[in-house]
Amino acid sequence: MKHFIVVGVLVIIVAALVSMGLGSIQLMPTQASAQAVPIDNLFGMHVKVISFLFSLIVVFLVYSIVVFRRKKGEEGDGDHFEGHTGLEIAWTIAPLATVLYFSYLGAQALAETRRADPQAMQVNVIGSQWSWRFEYPELGIVSDELRLPANRQVLLKLSSIDVIHSFWVPEFRVKQDALPGANMVKELRITPTLIGDYKVRCAELCGLQHAYMESPVIVMEPAGFDAWVIRQTALPTDPVDRGALWAKQFGCVACHSTDGATIVGPTWQGLSGKQETLTDGTTVTVDADFLHTAIVSPDAQVPQGFAPGIMPKNFGDTLSAEQINDIIAYIESLK
Ligand code: CUA
Repeated sequence: MKHFIVVGVLVIIVAALVSMGLGSIQLMPTQASAQAVPIDNLFGMHVKVISFLFSLIVVFLVYSIVVFRRKKGEEGDGDHFEGHTGLEIAWTIAPLATVLYFSYLGAQALAETRRADPQAMQVNVIGSQWSWRFEYPELGIVSDELRLPANRQVLLKLSSIDVIHSFWVPEFRVKQDALPGANMVKELRITPTLIGDYKVRCAELCGLQHAYMESPVIVMEPAGFDAWVIRQTALPTDPVDRGALWAKQFGCVACHSTDGATIVGPTWQGLSGKQETLTDGTTVTVDADFLHTAIVSPDAQVPQGFAPGIMPKNFGDTLSAEQINDIIAYIESLK
């Protein structure tokens, strides 16, 4: 009995020390959303239970090794035990009850992160290889960065035009896959609480540039957000400037550089007017017609050194005829 009291006290002390130690290191990134609060609380409780379990096992183990080690001159066998029904019932029921309790807490936290605010602002998030596009249907804005006013819930409707991507801003904690397919739109609710600059990362392996599929997420004062909305809804009058805007918003520049570097597709710098050799051996001069075909049916004429099947084939549907002309004007301006 004396041993159990000593071990019991040691378990409590070690558990408290481990729990304090783990609590003092920054295990999580900054907490920047209302949904992060229940998740972090749950995580904190797990850390406490983990500390207790660790200490329960390690203290018993080390105590037994030290106190019950074979002393000098001791040659006989140790005492023989035939099992203990009470102990076995206890160590079956206690973990079962703990796990059940945590599944209840988990369900509660999940419900909390999904609680809907009818005033939520909708943003459609469209993933594609390898960029994010953010559409604000109520505001008529399309953007390559996600700007959000602080302390207002946003309802993200996630989809993908090609493969599975995953929307993840670690500071908001919650995460959701973006799936291809018309009926596969997924929802995610976030209430940003901390003004600052974050980043959305793609958390699902989606091809060559997966690791670089990041976009800025900016949480702003509501007044600053309103000013941004006004700036965004005024379109430039020069087609070249508009083309540059579409190229950014629709993710073209994730694969086509404008400075001569090759990312995934041909660079746009000096492309217009260039003599291009295609994979079928023919040589063509890049003009507006060529660029138009390259945008709406990219596999029809693939330049040598590049692979077909990489560029999305639906830009003829997602871009209007004016937008395509603007993008061509922009490419032609990149000498
Ligand atoms: Cu998109 Cu990884």
